[in-house]
Amino acid sequence: MSRAGVRARLEISITDKSFRNAAGERVEILKGLALNLDVGEVGAIVGPSGCGKTTLLRIVAGLDADYTGSVHLPAHGRLGMVFQEPRLLPWRSVRDNITLAAPHASADEVAALFEMLGLAQHADHYPGELSGGLARRVALARAFAVQPDLLVLDEPFVSLDAALAARLRDELAEMVTLRPVTTLLVTHDVDEALRLADRVFLLSTRPATVLSELRIPNPRQPMGAQERADFRTRIATELERPTG
Ligand SMILES: Nc1ncnc2c1ncn2[C@@H]1O[C@H](COP(=O)(O)OP(=O)(O)OP(=O)(O)O)[C@@H](O)[C@H]1O
Ligand SMILES: [Mg+2]
Repeated sequence: MSRAGVRARLEISITDKSFRNAAGERVEILKGLALNLDVGEVGAIVGPSGCGKTTLLRIVAGLDADYTGSVHLPAHGRLGMVFQEPRLLPWRSVRDNITLAAPHASADEVAALFEMLGLAQHADHYPGELSGGLARRVALARAFAVQPDLLVLDEPFVSLDAALAARLRDELAEMVTLRPVTTLLVTHDVDEALRLADRVFLLSTRPATVLSELRIPNPRQPMGAQERADFRTRIATELERPTG
């Protein structure tokens, strides 16, 4: 693995990522997977369940160094990450979970995030007192509070009701427009990918590689019904295409 050298873009090239299964056999998860994102771009990763999306994000976030290949991060100081599970500190209040991760966030900034995410009444609650959807919102607040230069989101809007998920997608779109942040987002929701991304990367089944990359002509702008339908058809066709 190599994390040397900071370039302007996010450049990922994983030659091989394997795990050992319980029987001690090597199972290939990612193989010849390459993708790049320019500064401030949002890349959405769509692929079959279990193909290695979370594994890829963990490598990008620097949580797993056991792979062959290279990851060049955009020049950055701060990483914001939302895991597939909210992963809050259970013995700390909602407010402390945010301020511990983002000690430089001002009280006003934290208050604004709580307001945006509907968390104001829950600031003094402990994670164990929260519903799954609320816990997810706290995880989002924590990722945004650090004002990240690289934002890594693993299915961030699942288990939220449809209206809240739509509102948070709008908020995310607005945030990355106001303050561009290179963002890698995993989603199973094609409309979410079309709503948020500059580029959509379609992954194959395991071992995962990039089947194709779709550029969205006017990212985060309203999309016509026909254009949306065409993208959906294209994505469904690509993902169903036999590989190997
Ligand atoms: N630490 C580990 N040790 C062994 N195998 C692992 C480990 N972590 C993940 N795997 C295996 O790697 C494969 C890919 O897992 P991963 O969680 O990256 O998939 P995913 O694409 O995120 O799936 P989903 O869409 O369900 O979230 C799975 O078969 C999983 O069982
Ligand atoms: Mg996953």
